[in-house]
Amino acid sequence: METINWKELPFAYYKTDCNSRSYWKNGAWSEPEFSDSEYMPIHIAATSLHYGQEVFEGLKAFIGKDGKIRVFRWEENAKRMQDSCSGIMMAAPTTELFKEMVFETILRNKKFVPPYGTGASLYIRPLTIGTGARVGVRPSDEFMFLVFVSPVGPYFKEGFSPVSFMVTRDYDRAAPKGTGRYKVGGNYAASLSSMHLAHEKGFANVLYLDAKEKKYIDECGPANFFGIKNNTYITPKSESILPSITNKSLVQLAEYLGMKTEIRPVLLEELDTFEEAGACGTAAVISPIKRIFDDSNGKIYNFGDTAGPLSTKLYNMLRDIQNGDAEDVFGWNTIVE
Ligand code: PLP
Ligand code: COI
Repeated sequence: METINWKELPFAYYKTDCNSRSYWKNGAWSEPEFSDSEYMPIHIAATSLHYGQEVFEGLKAFIGKDGKIRVFRWEENAKRMQDSCSGIMMAAPTTELFKEMVFETILRNKKFVPPYGTGASLYIRPLTIGTGARVGVRPSDEFMFLVFVSPVGPYFKEGFSPVSFMVTRDYDRAAPKGTGRYKVGGNYAASLSSMHLAHEKGFANVLYLDAKEKKYIDECGPANFFGIKNNTYITPKSESILPSITNKSLVQLAEYLGMKTEIRPVLLEELDTFEEAGACGTAAVISPIKRIFDDSNGKIYNFGDTAGPLSTKLYNMLRDIQNGDAEDVFGWNTIVE
C-alpha cells in the first residue's frame, strides 16, 4: 500500500481493500458479500440507471487517542436511508443489515482509518439502487445495497476557514413537495450546474433559496445552513432540505452550551442580522461562512473573515466528541470492534 499523506487528503474517492454488497430478491436481503472489486455488473435497463431509483448515505468513523474506532450516529443514517428508500419506492436495508455491513466494511479496511490527530476521517458511503429491468416507469422489485469507505480530508478545501456562498434565483435544487428531504441522486444532479456556476465565480457553493417564493433560505449545497445571533442557533425549517444529522447534533450541543435554538423559516434578508453563519454536514462538519453574495442584486452579506466564537465552540465540541476527546454526553458514538 502506498503511504497516505493523511494531513493532505482531499474529500475524494480512495480505493480501499473491500466493499460489501447485499441483494434484495423475492422480498428478502441476501447475506452480505465482501468484494475487492470496484465494479458491479448491472442490467442495462436497471431502474437506478433510467429512473433514478438511487439512495445514498454518508457517515464517518474516527480513531481516538485510545486507538478505538468510533462511528458517529450510524442509526440516524440507517433511519434516513430507510426513509429515503420509502420516498422513492425502494426496498430499504434493515437497521441490522445496515449496521453489519457498515461495521464489517470498516473492520476490513482498518488500515485506511486516518490516524488520530490528522484531521482526516473514514467516510462511509452506503448506497441502495434499483437493479431490476424496467422500460416503463415503474419501481424495481430487485435492489442492491452496497457499502464502501474512503479516507477523506475536509469537504471544502478551506477546512475550518470561512468560505463564501452564492445565492442564485436561476436554478432550483428541490421543490417543496419534491424529493429534497430524501438523499437521492436526482437532487445532486439538479445541483450540478448551479454549483459549477458558483465555482466559476469563485464561491464554495450555492446557498439555495426555497423554490416556491425564493424568500427563505433552504440549504448550502450539500450541507444545511445555520446562523447565530443573540446567543441563539437558528436553522431553516423547510420540507425541501435534507434533515441533517450534523445539524440536529449541533442543535443539541447549542442547547447543552446554554444557547437558545430556533428551527423555523429563515428569510434571506435576515442574514443581515446574523453575527455568525455556517454550513454543516457530515462532509462539511462546520464550514464557517464569511460572505454570501446575492447574484440577482449584487448584495453582499458579511460575517467576517475568521470563524465566530460560537461556531468555533460548537465545532470543537462536535470534533472532540467524534474523536473521543470529550465525553460522549449524548451517546452518539458506537465503537467498532
Ligand atoms: N444537505 C445535503 C443536501 C446533504 O447532501 C448533506 C449531506 O449529507 C447534508 C445536508 C448534511 O447532512 P448530514 O449532517 O446528515 O451529513
Ligand atoms: C455528506 O455530508 O455526507 C454528504 O453526503 C455530502 C456530499 C458528499 C454529497
